[in-house]
Amino acid sequence: MSATTSIHGMWSNRLAFILAAAGSAVGLGNVWRFPYTAGEYGGGAFVLVYLLCVAAIGIPIMMAEILLGRRGRQSPINTMRTLALAEGKTPAWSLLGWMGILAGFMILSFYSVIAGWTLAYVVRAAGGAFTGIDAAGSQALFAGLTGDGERLLAWHTIFMVLCVLVVARGVASGLEKAVKWMMPALFLLLLVMVVYGAQTGDLGAAVRYLFEPDFGKLGSHAGEAILSAMGQAFFSLSLGMGAIMIYGSYLKSDASIMHNTVIIALLDTVVAMFAGLAIFPIVFAHGLEPGSGPGLVFITLPIAFGEMPGGGFFGGLFFLLLVFAAWTSGISLLEPVVAWLVENRGFSRVRAAVLAGGAVWLLGIACLLSLNRWSGYTLFGKGVLDLFDYVTANILLPLGGILIAVFAGWVLPRRVTQEELGMRDGVGYRIWRFLVRYVSPVAVALVLLNALGLLRAFGLG
Ligand code: PHE
Repeated sequence: MSATTSIHGMWSNRLAFILAAAGSAVGLGNVWRFPYTAGEYGGGAFVLVYLLCVAAIGIPIMMAEILLGRRGRQSPINTMRTLALAEGKTPAWSLLGWMGILAGFMILSFYSVIAGWTLAYVVRAAGGAFTGIDAAGSQALFAGLTGDGERLLAWHTIFMVLCVLVVARGVASGLEKAVKWMMPALFLLLLVMVVYGAQTGDLGAAVRYLFEPDFGKLGSHAGEAILSAMGQAFFSLSLGMGAIMIYGSYLKSDASIMHNTVIIALLDTVVAMFAGLAIFPIVFAHGLEPGSGPGLVFITLPIAFGEMPGGGFFGGLFFLLLVFAAWTSGISLLEPVVAWLVENRGFSRVRAAVLAGGAVWLLGIACLLSLNRWSGYTLFGKGVLDLFDYVTANILLPLGGILIAVFAGWVLPRRVTQEELGMRDGVGYRIWRFLVRYVSPVAVALVLLNALGLLRAFGLG
């Protein structure tokens, strides 16, 4: 019954899909968000929970999300409606797609602001601003940027224009080419940074910090830390909002979903670990605070670049690659809503991309103002940017993940998922089905309820 192609186009081959999906997954989430979140929750125990979440929740849900996308071959909203109706279920499943659109808008609006910092740092590095800089100088440099609303607006605007340009051209023509060299280059440069950190910084302390789980450090914040580790897994793997679903809808029918998923998740995880190993040696060698928050990467790395020969060049290159990594993630955040506008509103791709991008751009202005002029306005102690970050990663994406898992595990019959995954009823399939039916939804629900304090309210915590 399922279509074999999408009206929006198709990836030319399996490699193109892997690169695009890995491009979506690898981004600011790995290099910016992972280290600072791990730092906020004390390192090792957080990292361990994160890795467990990737393996037991992230991989099965990613397989499910690709499977749904490929089966439906439309925007997440229409895919969910079509697949639900085909099984005689309520079309209200399309709400999953709507929730994803909302999450995508919120994520991209703050993501673009952070990507703007990265753009600004390319220019600063190339201009020699890091030369001989110390910890205090680096902190001041960062504060100077986030305090300057107009400059943030300019960089945010440039990043959104970049995203709209690629999405307007169609995913296959613009994107496939860019990721092919960008991903290996980023990887290599991260490796250079790890080696550099090992030589000049305190690698031993960093390794102990990241990989020696000390659950005592979580203390009374354990529930919150586990929630954040799970949220980080969803965020970093781009799960739960339809980005991976729509990319799956452009994947040819004969490609193995499981193999591709494992490769994508491995790449994403390795990049995050490398980022941690590049950053924490510098943190400890310079007496910086691991839990100092979202500025962590932007404060630590300039110190390292400022000390190394050719630091202006390497620093510029590093942040440029990070811009590319953010770019390939940004377009995947925009793609689901653009596909929907084309399908349901009959918009041209260009018009849809401009409209959706414009809306995100406006929302992004609220995010960047929350760093300076609006810093006094907070909700639950967070400004707009932090709030969007927290709510999407820790609540909306996991909720989307539960729904995806339930749909793939309980609504779709065995026969359909086996056919789409291209798997027989062997061990691999059974493990997947068990994880997606029981483990992922229950684990995610428990973590969410626990963090909301509801388990305790029910007398279970
Ligand atoms: N995975 C991306 C990153 O780590 C962010 C992202 C989240 C992209 C959700 C798409 C969907 O930077």
